[in-house]
Amino acid sequence: MRNRHLLIGNWKMNLGPSQAAAFALKLREGLPKTARTDVWVAPPTVSLAPVCAELAGTSIVVGAQNVHWAASGAFTGETSPVFLADLGIAFSLVGHSERRTLFGESSQQVAQRTQGALAAGLTAVVCIGETEGERSAGRTETVLEEQLSPVLESVSRDAAGRVVLAYEPVWAIGTGKVAALEEIRQAHRCIESLWARKQFTSSPVILYGGSVNPGNFAEILALPEVDGALVGGASIKVDQWLSLIAIAEESPVARG
Ligand code: PGA
Repeated sequence: MRNRHLLIGNWKMNLGPSQAAAFALKLREGLPKTARTDVWVAPPTVSLAPVCAELAGTSIVVGAQNVHWAASGAFTGETSPVFLADLGIAFSLVGHSERRTLFGESSQQVAQRTQGALAAGLTAVVCIGETEGERSAGRTETVLEEQLSPVLESVSRDAAGRVVLAYEPVWAIGTGKVAALEEIRQAHRCIESLWARKQFTSSPVILYGGSVNPGNFAEILALPEVDGALVGGASIKVDQWLSLIAIAEESPVARG
């Protein structure tokens, strides 16, 4: 639970270097001074440097969409957490469902990536969530546990404060289907209880993700279990993204 809302935009494989720089400029010009919302964006890897340059001196934090566990070595196509830190990158998403389903990343690998990110001083935004089939089979909580346990095992007490968890039901990502408020509450409570087993000194920060837009965000953010959102589609449309920030600014920070 944070004392500020957290809104993260996952640009996915959209906005190459020049488009991303132009988009970042629009964000810089449009961003209000936020009193209770932290705004983070995750551009594609090749767009990180131009976006960092464009957003330098603003409060917007820039992160990667994925990260390898090793500092360097024979890992063709991967990105070192140390290189990201060198570029001034503050965080990385880890274990997004597209990585898990399209690229076969296991929960064990997600744990390794998390560890690599944390060791390099980054914040790890770890994504977990069930498929539609798993939900209808009543396996949601089991899946959350299976995905989260290896990650939590690999996180030290000292680094726990640099872990953000994102509950993203796979069936709600990019589909326009949003989880019901009660489903979100239950999943977040389940994640809280898995976190509590570790007896970290910090409380968990849990975002919801999956078809968040300006029409549904206020009621999701009003849930006491929700610290913010991880947003895909609506984060690369300037008007929608600025609306989401405005909604967060108007929403009191709930304390669970
Ligand atoms: P969406 O994506 O907001 O487009 O559903 C969320 C995500 O993939 O993180």
